[in-house]
Amino acid sequence: MKIHSSVYWKNYFTSNSKIIRVDWSLKPDLTDFERKSILKSLQAWQLGETSEGEHLLHTAKKYAATIDDDEYPNAVKLFIKEEQKHGHNLGQYLDLIEEPRIKKDWGDTLFRKIRYFNTNMELWTIAVITVESAARIFYQALKDATNCKLLKQICTDILIDEAAHITFQKERLYIIFNQKNAFPRWLAYYAYSCFYICTSLVVWFGHKTLFKAGKLNFFRYFSKMRFKLKKVAGKSVLYEPNEFENQLTKFSQTTYL
Ligand SMILES: [Fe+2]
Ligand SMILES: [Fe+2]
Repeated sequence: MKIHSSVYWKNYFTSNSKIIRVDWSLKPDLTDFERKSILKSLQAWQLGETSEGEHLLHTAKKYAATIDDDEYPNAVKLFIKEEQKHGHNLGQYLDLIEEPRIKKDWGDTLFRKIRYFNTNMELWTIAVITVESAARIFYQALKDATNCKLLKQICTDILIDEAAHITFQKERLYIIFNQKNAFPRWLAYYAYSCFYICTSLVVWFGHKTLFKAGKLNFFRYFSKMRFKLKKVAGKSVLYEPNEFENQLTKFSQTTYL
């Protein structure tokens, strides 16, 4: 697998933050039916995207010190800023359609509790990967559930950002996973899958009205989630040698032949 440096990610997030993909001069245009099917989920994800990210940043700083990578917390800081942009844009949209920004949601409370007690980078990374994977399906369904041009643009912008977030976190999971010995690796592989699948089910039950409005039934949703799991934390991904190791192996083979 190709692993990018923290400086690469810092530069990526910095340049991505300068790209404006939402035309705020557009007026929101929602039918009553669309509003009814998307509102609750829209409010819940708006709340979820507005986290301060203090615990994640604290964990990232602690972890970065152990691997001697000063730039990693800076990349994480910019990653959190991008998530906050999502919360801000969704909030602005709620204001425009004159609906309240909520302060409490059971799913958000649950994830905040998990985040609060979590000071382990590996747990953070698999948790973020899981939520990002669900987010990609969620925002696509939200986009498909409406004809509102402004909301579609907000979703497209988030979808572009989330794709890079998954790569950023997938590389970190790979690094952490490959620092383990064989047995802890085996355990970790099953623990990741188990956490991912359970969380996928929670997300479905919390947002099934929206997913259905976006023309996704449970089987399509779940097979999409499983496909994403294979791509981010499947055996072939986690156990794949990284490019640097590949080059070393080729070098030693040519040297000894
Ligand atoms: Fe996000
Ligand atoms: Fe994200």
